[in-house]
Amino acid sequence: MGEVWSNGQCRCKGRAVATTDFKAQEDDGMKMDVMVDGARMTVKISGRLDVHTAPVLDELIEHQLANIKELMLDCGGVDSVSSVGLRAILKAHQKMKDSHGRLLLKNVTKSTADVFEVTGLDRILHCERKPRSMSVAGLQMIAKGANGECYKVDDETVLKLYFDYVEEAYAVKEKELAKQAFVAGVPTPISFDVVACGDRRGILYEMIRADTLSKYIETNVDRFDEVVELYVGFCKKIHAIVPAPNTFPDAVTLACGYVDACDFFNERQRAFLKDRLVRTERHGTLIHWDLHPSNIMRDGENLCLIDMGDMAVGTPFFDLGQIKHVLHYCGGMGLCHTFIGLSDAIAVRVWKKFVASYFGHPAPDALAVIEENIDFYRAIKNVFLYLCRSGGETMRSRRKEFIFQMLPKEFAQLR
Ligand SMILES: Nc1ncnc2c1ncn2[C@@H]1O[C@H](COP(=O)(O)OP(=O)(O)OP(=O)(O)O)[C@@H](O)[C@H]1O
Ligand SMILES: [Mg+2]
Repeated sequence: MGEVWSNGQCRCKGRAVATTDFKAQEDDGMKMDVMVDGARMTVKISGRLDVHTAPVLDELIEHQLANIKELMLDCGGVDSVSSVGLRAILKAHQKMKDSHGRLLLKNVTKSTADVFEVTGLDRILHCERKPRSMSVAGLQMIAKGANGECYKVDDETVLKLYFDYVEEAYAVKEKELAKQAFVAGVPTPISFDVVACGDRRGILYEMIRADTLSKYIETNVDRFDEVVELYVGFCKKIHAIVPAPNTFPDAVTLACGYVDACDFFNERQRAFLKDRLVRTERHGTLIHWDLHPSNIMRDGENLCLIDMGDMAVGTPFFDLGQIKHVLHYCGGMGLCHTFIGLSDAIAVRVWKKFVASYFGHPAPDALAVIEENIDFYRAIKNVFLYLCRSGGETMRSRRKEFIFQMLPKEFAQLR
């Protein structure tokens, strides 16, 4: 992420960025701050965008977008937009389209969004609304997850509030994926708005009055087999859902990107992983990618899925890898209770029963082949978790070690 600029000089991660000699501009009634980070340019506009001020934006669009692939217009400070201002924005849209890049409008206030709607531009432009501000003072915290807290807002609504290191873009993505999942038929709470609480971002969700499936498993050990069957049946239902085309990202494409971004693989190791990934049978069916029993809530006989930020389409093995990791690995390490509130010994038993049942109780040698395949996808998910530093720095270095342990022995020898 870039830093900022003063006197028209752009800075990124503390170093001066080689940009053209564009200067931060201030015109009567409008101010534009420009930040460049590699191929991404952010332009923060404050004031009026009209016949007097739009030429400043026009000038930038005309001369400064040569190597830019993503242009973000932060419209949070825009007071008003006239037709001339709209034309400047349209010009930026066309310019980015011509260079196979994209234009995003961020922090769009209600009044600006109304103008886009009235003119029909909302159908062409990619706009993100300015998150509504709210405070959690006086709200009851009802749960704590790995990435934030969950507050009761009223009898129908909860706020899932991320810690401050989670970017707004992630909250927007989770909200959108939750909506798409709902439309595709996944039993999941309605996601309303992304909101801002100071530096933190959150999502307002329909409140589910239920306990997690982890808690249900824990309190029903006398009906262990039946409860695990319920879990397996729910996962299989999710894995049978075919969403509309292009509504979810493709897991293989994402996974290849994670492998490319991972700094500790050499080229042959990268090629090995990507080759196996692209040979994965393409599934147009849903995966959740974090389908552990604390991301499932049980309301009477109904199970409901939450925490939708990593959903994609792909083989169920992507999900099975993460389920095995949480239950079998974390359970074996004594970490499952801390992570998902399910006691470690029970978690290990759940995995054994789960995998046998999911695959129709195969013979031991067939099960061993299945588990080897599951371990491959488990390693891939851990590459992602390594990249996003999930679990902190100590976990990060341990994760690197066990990624190699999860992969076939010859993988480490590839030079
Ligand atoms: N819609 C909802 N209604 C009621 N409770 C909810 C809802 N969404 C989340 N919760 C509660 O908040 C907890 C954390 O939510 P969630 O799993 O989405 O957050 P997270 O921080 O991403 O969690 P983790 O990364 O630990 O899985 C849930 O286990 C649940 O108890
Ligand atoms: Mg969760």
